[in-house]
Amino acid sequence: MRFDILTLFPAMFSSPFQESILGKAIEKGLIEIRAVNIRDFTLDKHRIVDDAPYGGGQGMVMKVEPIARAMEWVKSQDSSAWRIYLTPQGRRFDQEKARTLSSRSHLVLLCGRYEGVDERVRELLVDEEISIGDYVLTGGELAAMVVIDAVSRLVPGVLGSDQSAEEDSFSDFLLEYPQYTRPSHFKGKDVPEVLLS
Ligand code: ADE
Repeated sequence: MRFDILTLFPAMFSSPFQESILGKAIEKGLIEIRAVNIRDFTLDKHRIVDDAPYGGGQGMVMKVEPIARAMEWVKSQDSSAWRIYLTPQGRRFDQEKARTLSSRSHLVLLCGRYEGVDERVRELLVDEEISIGDYVLTGGELAAMVVIDAVSRLVPGVLGSDQSAEEDSFSDFLLEYPQYTRPSHFKGKDVPEVLLS
């Protein structure tokens, strides 16, 4: 499965996915994660990616053209790529959504910054808008990481056995029972007898 992240801060993605389970999944070629710098798709000398909003108001808005060019570039490589804009205005991300997305072969995750993106990005350049919760982050980058992590672990082969993804807490919406390892006694809190026998 492939993930393209459209961002102004590609360096944010250099280390999180090198570790642990996702690092191994990348090594094995099960998933591929590429951070694409939106600024590389500007055409002007100053590589401008944002501008003041029409009608005034606070902050800056991300311009439509660099995002459009970046999206077109990704789409030209794979017309089936599914484009997601990470925004607090989007539909709330949950395990069911992670499962649906894991059946796709290629996701494009657009990360907004500043006061958001030009409305025409939302109208013309994305298939879906996703929020990871009712709070406002400084940008979509951390949200993209959350989505990539939750989706990747559902890709067959990424977890040790395909079973682990099915057995965990959310797959049947029941809470898993608590887990213990040694020691059996710790500060007055003991491992339940039934687990020791
Ligand atoms: N960008 C800023 N806040 C966000 C959120 N809660 N979810 C997704 N993208 C965001």
